[in-house]
Amino acid sequence: MKLFPIIFSILFLISCAKNPIIIAHRGAPGYLPEHTLPSAAYAHALKVDYIEPDLVLTKDDQLIVLHDIHLENTTDVEKIFPLRKRRDGHYYAIDFTLKEIKKLSVHERVRNKKALFVKRFPFQFKFLKVPSFKEFCDLVIGLNKSTNTKIGIYPEIKDPQFHLKNKKDITRIFVSFLKEFNISKQLPVIVQSFDADTLRELNELIDLKLIQLIADDSWKKTGITYQKMRSPKGLELIKKYADGVGVWIPHVLQEKDLAKNIKDVGLQIHVYTHREDSLPKGIKSSNELMKKLKSLNVDGIFSDHPDKLLQI
Ligand code: G3P
Ligand code: CA
Repeated sequence: MKLFPIIFSILFLISCAKNPIIIAHRGAPGYLPEHTLPSAAYAHALKVDYIEPDLVLTKDDQLIVLHDIHLENTTDVEKIFPLRKRRDGHYYAIDFTLKEIKKLSVHERVRNKKALFVKRFPFQFKFLKVPSFKEFCDLVIGLNKSTNTKIGIYPEIKDPQFHLKNKKDITRIFVSFLKEFNISKQLPVIVQSFDADTLRELNELIDLKLIQLIADDSWKKTGITYQKMRSPKGLELIKKYADGVGVWIPHVLQEKDLAKNIKDVGLQIHVYTHREDSLPKGIKSSNELMKKLKSLNVDGIFSDHPDKLLQI
């Protein structure tokens, strides 16, 4: 039996397997506090493919780069504006103007007042601020020019239904922003949301790649049943308005055929979130995770530590 040509062909096919794009998740929060401009600049220097800003609105309708609709888990809002919490104990970004939000400093994410990831950036610096989306875009556009690169942005519209309940249409404001500043003419843009209605609306309004994020139902992110979305029928429905799905890594690892079903309907698979300091259960290294994800033909990976995947 001529084994050599067979082995050579297999090795050739493996070497041709396309590397997934690497998306810097909230900047490079493995190294500097999430969603700050230094964190985004660090991610840019790591030569990722895209940098992700999560977006929420301020009281004066400005898009800011923030993961939560609340401010207390990543800023010193409790110290600067102690009386501005709502009855439920949260400090909502939507209750503050951009000028007020600029008085806050950003720190490592906390949960119950303790650092969520203990090995990450240890200091609190006053100069770390919540960026506006405009500042974030200008930073990436500027760095692309000065480094002669074309790194994209991958914004997520956060909780559109919460914004609507508070009489703010974040989706329309986002679309107006993109048009006013000609953003997609200046750098690649992919748009993501957990909210299917928002993506259907965006599909009518803009001509950009759209990604339907799929949660685990236990997180109770929205009124949507995400388990249905992961069925072949659910994926067919997503195909009508989106180009791909953003799937939680444990779902693609544990749900047999999910990755194949996604590919079979013609959707791209992007997965979230790789963290060197919090790998999925049963995975021992970033290297092992990357190999598994590549074997599932994943097209993109969100990462808090993008350099750990880029070096593989
Ligand atoms: O947007 C992909 C991933 O970021 C979704 O999760 O909660 O980190 O925004 P989250
Ligand atoms: Ca996100």
